[in-house]
Order: sequence, then C-alpha cells, then structure tokens
Amino acid sequence: MEVKAIEKREIAADATIIAGVLTGRDPAPGSESVFEEVDDRLLDVAGFEGKAGQTLTVPHGEGVVVLVGLGDEGTFESVRAAAGNGVRAVKTGDAVCLLASVAVDGATRAVVEGLVLGGYQFRAYKTSTEEEETIVGSVGIVEAEPDEIAAALIGAEATNLARDWTNTPAMDASPVDISRMISAAAEDDSVEVTLWDRARIEDEKLGAFLGVAAGSDRPPVLMVLSYQPEGAETHLGLVGKGITFDSGGLSIKAAAFMEEMKDDMAGAAVVAAATIAIARAALPLRVTTVIPLTDNAIGGNAIRPGDVLRPADGPTIEVLNTDAEGRLILADGLGVVRRYEPDFMVDVATLTGASKVALGDKIAAVFASDSDVAEMVLRAASRAGEFFWEMPLFKEYRKALDSNIADIKNITGSRYGGAIAAALFLSEYAGDGDWAHLDIAGPARWRETAGEQVKGGSGVGVRTLVELARMLAGSDG
Ligand code: BES
Ligand code: MN
Ligand code: ZN
Repeated sequence: MEVKAIEKREIAADATIIAGVLTGRDPAPGSESVFEEVDDRLLDVAGFEGKAGQTLTVPHGEGVVVLVGLGDEGTFESVRAAAGNGVRAVKTGDAVCLLASVAVDGATRAVVEGLVLGGYQFRAYKTSTEEEETIVGSVGIVEAEPDEIAAALIGAEATNLARDWTNTPAMDASPVDISRMISAAAEDDSVEVTLWDRARIEDEKLGAFLGVAAGSDRPPVLMVLSYQPEGAETHLGLVGKGITFDSGGLSIKAAAFMEEMKDDMAGAAVVAAATIAIARAALPLRVTTVIPLTDNAIGGNAIRPGDVLRPADGPTIEVLNTDAEGRLILADGLGVVRRYEPDFMVDVATLTGASKVALGDKIAAVFASDSDVAEMVLRAASRAGEFFWEMPLFKEYRKALDSNIADIKNITGSRYGGAIAAALFLSEYAGDGDWAHLDIAGPARWRETAGEQVKGGSGVGVRTLVELARMLAGSDG
C-alpha cells in the first residue's frame, strides 16, 4: 500500500474516501464537505453513531464514503484505530483519508500507523482468488506533512516486517531461514550483518545457547547486527529471544500450550526490525543487536533436567526445566552484546506465561536496572502508543534461584512471581550498566483484529525501541 500526502482539491477524483466522524455524528474538521453529501437518513437507518470501532460504507458518486467512528474524543489512539478500521472497510482500490485533520497531536503519524498496520495481511499460506488478494492500492492523506508520513512509515513498515517473521510457520522459519529473512530485509540499509554458525558459537563457548540448541537437528545461528553512523555518541545494545519453536524440550509442553510456540522468536523479530528502522531513520546513535536463534526441541542429544550449562560469561546454570529455555539463550545473548560495551542494553523476549497472568495479553512487562531506565522505556512506549507496565526486580526473590550444585538454577519451582524470577535470572548476565528487559509474552500475539491491530503476530515493541533510540540519540529528549 502506498501512502502519500495530497491536496484537498484532489478528493473528487478518487473513488473511495474515508471520513472521520465523532460521536454525535459531527464530521471531523476538514471532512465537512464530504459529510454534507451523506444523507442523514441513511445514517439513521444504518444506526451509525460514530462510536469507536464503528464503520459505515455509503455509496458516494462513483465510489463510496467510509465513515469511521472516533468515539467521544479524538485522541492519537482513537485516530490510529479509526484509520485501521477504515482501511479494512475500504478493502480495495485507492482511497483518500481525511482523518489527519482531526485536531490531535501527531495525527499524521496516527493515520499512517493505522492505515499501514490495520491494512496488514499475512496471505502467504492462503489459497485465494486474485480479488481476495486485492488490497488497498494507495491512500492519499489530506492535510498531512510528507516528512511526517515518511517518518511514520518507517516504524509501521518495520512493525509489519516483524509481524511477517513472527507469523511464518516454524517449518519455514528455522534459525537459518529467519537469519536469511532478516539479512534480506537489512540489505539496502546501513546495517552490517554477521552470522555465527554452530562452529563459531562453539569457539565462543556459548554453552547455555548450545545446550538449548542440542535437541534440534536444525542448526542454531547467532546474528550480530551493527549500525554505526558516523559521529554517534551513544551506543544501544539489543538482544532478542529467537526460539524458532518452543516444544518445551524434554520438559515438554502440553498440546494446548505448544500451539502458539512458533511465535517464540517474536523478541528476535522485534529487535531486528527496530534496528532496521533506526538505520532507515538515520538516527545518530550506534546500535549493536544480538539474536540467538534456535529451536527448543527433543532430539536424542537434548539437554535433560539436572544438566548444568556454562554460558560464556556469568554463573553456571542448573537446568531443572528445559522449558525455561529463553533465559538460557539470553544469558549468552547478553554476554555477547556486552563485549561490544553498549551504554544502554535492552532485551526483548516472549519469556514467561507468568507475565501474561500478571498483566493480561495486551501489556508488556518492563524490568529495569534502575528507575531512570524504567522511566525512559515507559516514556518511549507512551510516545509509541504501546502498552508497557513496570514490574519489580525484587532482590528478595533471588535466593529462590540458588542451585544445589551450580551457581544458579533456571526455575524457582514456585508458580508465583514467575516473570520476576526470570528477570532476576537475566539480571545475573546483564552487568552493572543501564539495562531493561521487556517480557512481551502477552502482546507479541494479538487475539483480535481491531483498530491498528490484526489478529496474529503484532510486532509490539518495534516502535517503542525506535522511540527509545530517538531519546538516547538526544535528537528528541
Ligand atoms: N516461550 C515460553 C513463554 C510463553 C508462554 C510465551 C506463553 C508466550 C506464551 C517460555 O519459554 C516458557 O515456556 N516459559 C515457562 C517457564 C517456566 C517453565 C518456569 C512458562 O512460562 O511456563
Ligand atoms: Mn519454554
Ligand atoms: Zn520459550
């Protein structure tokens, strides 16, 4: 879908129009002229009240007018959601969008994100007619700044990249497959990609990562992405959990819990897409991104409960549950990124079911080395319009991870506080600098299509990381 700025006078030439309407049916500022032509009686019959989430398609000239409800107030979020609902109602052809004239901060970005994210489809595995595959060709946004459109497109398109990678079935998304997809996406950008194969990973002594990889016939890959613009002062280090399928290993998952485990590489997808977006936006900071990719499978070489793994740096680990594998590969991922000496580290992972129990499936958990770091991540999330909530790195719980025979064990054995235990485990490998851990187990997958979200992999976290990078770069404090 092409998205561009257009002048108001071009409206009559287009077949399809999206107009914003507030509750009580007042047309959004700027869309009055279109709205005048929509017969009020039609709206009565259709019961259109302009509520959030409502849409109505009305014949208009050669094409249609799609009315989208904004609810009681125009906000960044309501405009973004309306644009998403609107683009799906348009279905096909070219459209003109009048929503950017709603008087909210960042309206253009809200509209672009709504259109590009809400119009996302993952059709690679559908047998469908050409007609079903026809999606909206272009959308002209009235009263939008071309620069703002271009900036918003970078974040929205990167989010859709992360969604594609997350949605791809595990059979077509091995560690090697994912590393190729990410490398291909980064090809035209100033991101340098380095791949470590099993031999290199062995040379580097990443024993925790290798332990998880031992159970799979598909070889592991560790990716290092590097974006190094000239004159960068700050260095951001990112790590993403790249479990290409999580069977649980020998501590095997029950079928119902395994169903969705192709998305256990969503953290990897998010950090890779964010790195690409940061490069495309030419933000003036250095970024080093480390992505350990492996299945968690049950081959004859799989690690057993009771085995002890040695990550390259940090405490030795007694593995009492092979399903707590994310923290194992992240222990080595954090160790590798620290070698590059970043000023600020963030890891992103679908780490614990417990974070979903705590916050539900639309909110990601943030753990941070100190409150300034947490505040910065939360501010970035709020600018990105994503939902994050801080959880405590409560030191009292650390002793529950003491192991009988190794330095630490990978589970506490208690059902309670599981997201915190996992974060405390990671903190052992994160060093003493600024570090945040984002547990996206809930929002990595969206369960319903509504507004800018489409059922499936969500790409949640990409735009928060881009905003965080913007703040760290000092280009926008
Ligand atoms: N990938 C899962 C976490 C997960 C669960 C993500 C549900 C998305 C949806 C992770 O590897 C895992 O299995 N965690 C275990 C940890 C436990 C064994 C301590 C969990 O949460 O049950
Ligand atoms: Mn697991
Ligand atoms: Zn997992």
